[in-house]
Amino acid sequence: MMKKTPIPAEIVDKIVAESGIKEVGRASIREVKRLINDIENASGEKFVRMEMGIPGLPACKIGVDAQIKALQDGVAAIYPDIDGTPELKAEAARFVKTFIDLDVDPAGCIPTVGSMMGGMAGFMTFVRARKERDTTLFIDPGFPVQKQQHRVMGLKYETFDVYNYRGAKLRDKLESYLSKGHVHTIMYSNPNNPSWICFTEEELQIIGDLANKYDVFVFEDLAYFGMDFRRDISKPGVFQPSVGKYTENYALLISGSKAFSYAGERIGLMVLSKKLYNSEFADLVPYFGTPKLGRAIIYGTVYAISSGTSHSAQYALAAILKACNDGTYNYLDDVREYAEKAAIMKKLFTDNGFVIVYDKDGDKLLADGFYFTLAYPGMSGEELLKEFLYYGISAISLGITGSERTEGLRACVSLVNRNQFPALEERLKAFKANHQ
Ligand SMILES: Cc1ncc(COP(=O)(O)O)c(C=O)c1O
Repeated sequence: MMKKTPIPAEIVDKIVAESGIKEVGRASIREVKRLINDIENASGEKFVRMEMGIPGLPACKIGVDAQIKALQDGVAAIYPDIDGTPELKAEAARFVKTFIDLDVDPAGCIPTVGSMMGGMAGFMTFVRARKERDTTLFIDPGFPVQKQQHRVMGLKYETFDVYNYRGAKLRDKLESYLSKGHVHTIMYSNPNNPSWICFTEEELQIIGDLANKYDVFVFEDLAYFGMDFRRDISKPGVFQPSVGKYTENYALLISGSKAFSYAGERIGLMVLSKKLYNSEFADLVPYFGTPKLGRAIIYGTVYAISSGTSHSAQYALAAILKACNDGTYNYLDDVREYAEKAAIMKKLFTDNGFVIVYDKDGDKLLADGFYFTLAYPGMSGEELLKEFLYYGISAISLGITGSERTEGLRACVSLVNRNQFPALEERLKAFKANHQ
């Protein structure tokens, strides 16, 4: 006999059949979202939604006010400079100094239409720098859309799951790729989407040393800037860890989306190190008319993709960064809510027989933050994802993120409201009871 579940099985089965999705466990984030919407409508039950990585907080008011003022002052009518407004570039360089302790020039701080575009612009340009280097190396798990960018552009990439190569083991693993000479860029996010691992200083040093040894670019995606809540980067002398301490071959991606809850305005920054901004590669010339990497990105790639970034959103980000730099606004106070929710939710899962998949950085327990990963012993991630539908819980499979931990799911805490915790607890208890 069918076990009783919080969402009636007939409804779930019917909607899944109608959706045409063959394997729910392998569906993309957007497909899962659609499916859950349909099940919610048909059952009248609200899901505990952990599938989408979108901010769950109001946009930073300092940004909204500055953006409204900029619009009222007329910037909407005027094309922004492709390399960004001087105010934003200056505040961005200050921000990088204040919170990462790296010295960059305002010229190398380039606003982009979200980090998404920063990544795309970087990949498009870095791949042209040296003919013999045609491959991006992803340290996975990672953000699936960056691989989608490679696929739509026909660019090559390789990837490995870092799970078994933490600490000193990372060196040999990276060298096994880099020594072949075909990699132009190493890409990773830190804190990591989806696993929320944060590289240790030892690991960042290994990446930086090897970037120097093999002369590759490192693309460090700081979409979750400062959100390793084990260290408070708003305190003097505490910084966002970065590979930039160990190599000058770095480009950073800083997003307005999560740190400042500004996802809707699509604003982020690509920050090139002084060395990268000024470096020259003869192979760039046929594509960009210049050998200079910084100019190629701005006047070649960013110009070609979008001709710059929304003028008013640049005023918003400039005002937010200025307030952070001046010490009049501590953005971490706003986003700490994610860590507090994650701590409670992780406990609800582990109390009911679940395990955290990516659980440590070196010998330290992982930080609580925007995402966590979970598994149920004896079940694959795909089975678990499908089974969760009957319990009104949604997540995404780690399998689609380049993780080899196919037993795992990624849970995002942002959209889960605290008033849903009792329902989550009840559903997890029911799940446990049905899977003893
Ligand atoms: C690792 C990572 N990089 C980039 C992005 C996209 O950021 P943006 O909204 O600035 O394009 C995200 C968003 O989820 C992300 O998780």
